[in-house]
Amino acid sequence: MKVVTVVAPVNIAVIKYWGKRDEELILPINDSISGTLSTDHMCAKTTIQASPLFQENRFWLNGKPQDFDNPRLNNCLKEVKRRAKPSCPILNWKLSICSENNFPTAAGLASSAAGYACLVSALAQLYEIDGDISSIARRGSGSACRSVYGGWVQWVKGESPTGEDSLAVQLAPASHWPEMRVIILVVSNETKKYSSTSGMKTSVETSQLLPYRAKEIVPKQVERMKRAIADKDFEAFARITMEDSNSFHAMCLDTFPPCVYMNDISHAIVDVVHTYNQLKSSNKVSYTFDAGPNACLYLLESEVEEFLSVINYVFPPRSGSIQDEYIKGSKVKQLP
Ligand code: PMV
Repeated sequence: MKVVTVVAPVNIAVIKYWGKRDEELILPINDSISGTLSTDHMCAKTTIQASPLFQENRFWLNGKPQDFDNPRLNNCLKEVKRRAKPSCPILNWKLSICSENNFPTAAGLASSAAGYACLVSALAQLYEIDGDISSIARRGSGSACRSVYGGWVQWVKGESPTGEDSLAVQLAPASHWPEMRVIILVVSNETKKYSSTSGMKTSVETSQLLPYRAKEIVPKQVERMKRAIADKDFEAFARITMEDSNSFHAMCLDTFPPCVYMNDISHAIVDVVHTYNQLKSSNKVSYTFDAGPNACLYLLESEVEEFLSVINYVFPPRSGSIQDEYIKGSKVKQLP
């Protein structure tokens, strides 16, 4: 029997990935950039056991048995085994995979990103494969490729139709900007209405904004964001992050039928952030929303206390309707 356990954190995109040019290989139509959180708070944990005595492959997610016949899981497994040495003794052993998230799954909080980064990392250890594994994690869930690295990470879309150049690269370790913090405001724990897979597909088919965003907006914003991160220029970082979130949700609304992810509370949070920044005469806090209503706020440590007191005033903590979770800045974490 061989057992491996791995923990992987979520990543929060500041330039969003939305839309695939190849559904099967999960190749994106634009580059994206994210920050990987530390494993102190929101993360996935996967334990894989391999044994010659197991009769069949089995998979549990958050304590519930799942169908092992999941194409994305099998694509990752196939690719890891393909890269393993032919002499690897456990290639034909059956697996028991146990995965859990310590935060709401499929609620627009990047659970699949952490989950697949964790799974692929555990498989890579189990079958003892070397080299970059982000392109394998990508086959599980696109954004998972970014959770393979810590700190600031770019998913380069690549040009090849076969996807070997569609990889995650670390732009800077978390230690580069140790003052950076993320606050997640959990507006809803519910599973999102439309999965990112179906939402993206409909956007690619129907949104007239999408090609413009991919060709004209994102490439410029990616360059500006890389500069803001390299220079630790929070003012610019915050502005680009908010612009990208707004552009992404505009494209979601431009999809037919529209993908409505933000709700009234999300919009109220946007208002609070802009009012706060106006009063401070500079962008001290930035928001970004994924495929769900929950707000991810990037801000510097020096601003956390004051901004949280504003949030607690505007949204008094009441029967769990809105909870804040203070996520400490991520440390450099290269998954083993
Ligand atoms: O990796 P997926 O298929 O869960 O898509 C993630 C899409 C967003 O979270 C909305 C954006 C991103 O880049 O993470």
